[in-house]
Amino acid sequence: VAERTVALTGIKPTGRPHIGNWLGMIRPAIALADEPGVEALYFIADYHGLTTVRDRATLRALTLDCAATWLAFGLDPEKTVLYRQSDVPEVFELAWILACHTPKGFMNKSHAYKAARDANEAGGEDPDAGISMGLFSYPVLMAADILAVDADVVPVGKDQVQHVEIARDIAERVNHTWGEGTLRLPAVRVKSESAVVPGVDGRKMSKSYDNALPCFGSPAELRKAVMRIATDSTPPDAPKDPDSSLVFRIHRALLDEAVGASLAARYRAGISWGAAKKLLADDLETQLEGARARYASWIARPEAIDLLLAEGARRARRIAGPVLGRVRAALGVSSSA
Ligand code: TRP
Repeated sequence: VAERTVALTGIKPTGRPHIGNWLGMIRPAIALADEPGVEALYFIADYHGLTTVRDRATLRALTLDCAATWLAFGLDPEKTVLYRQSDVPEVFELAWILACHTPKGFMNKSHAYKAARDANEAGGEDPDAGISMGLFSYPVLMAADILAVDADVVPVGKDQVQHVEIARDIAERVNHTWGEGTLRLPAVRVKSESAVVPGVDGRKMSKSYDNALPCFGSPAELRKAVMRIATDSTPPDAPKDPDSSLVFRIHRALLDEAVGASLAARYRAGISWGAAKKLLADDLETQLEGARARYASWIARPEAIDLLLAEGARRARRIAGPVLGRVRAALGVSSSA
């Protein structure tokens, strides 16, 4: 490990966070930020959100919500630089430079765009219907986020690995043309323990499947969602196989190994689904209580969040400014040489 490792990740503001977001992404990213020698920059990708959001109030609310979520789960704004993407203009200048070095074919292969195209084709529409240039070139902006701060590691879920690889490919092309060292190549870091958390219906927990357990709903709402977890008709006291139980698989994601193992033993000894769900709801309640209170306190003070994001942007620009200076010098475009 280098003495200073820059970790960067972006979070697209998409609405109420659920347990899958927390366990799969937020918790491991905060743990990484707390490692010695790591300088973490975590930002709210509001201009990526612009590929779908069409309303000022929504964009602002989603941004504040995203910031409050990170703070609630323990991001330390003194240590970790938390900022709004749109506050860092260097990113967008770099995005253009990168776009000029990105073969269009890279973008044709990108998952998000391909998914939209496939959906159009399946629906008998024009393949490009409703697809903006922003959506098409989404990975270029993401590459700029990463490369503008000389990131060493980019902690992401599996679904974003392709995008980080594209960032590396683009950086290599820039370096090949303008000189080695113009851009720093990032490494992907997929957290092995950030297993995908299943939702109440057994598919991946996702807002779009309506199968998520909310992080910041009321305790009653959380319990209601837990009761929706699919079970089978095994009699109440019969032994249960933990690994094939959805209640257990969700619960295990919350626990460390030893506690998970003793919970598995209780399932094997025989536990009713009602009791198993109550254990899960109780643990969730305990683990989320503090975060829920912190979330409420932040979201009630949007000006405090704005201040904090502004300070984060200043810090991010102190890093991105010199990187852009280096790139511009490599291109020979600075008039103030
Ligand atoms: N594309 C990511 C997502 O949808 C968000 C993102 C934007 C990002 N820019 C990034 C992630 C840079 C890592 C690095 O979740």
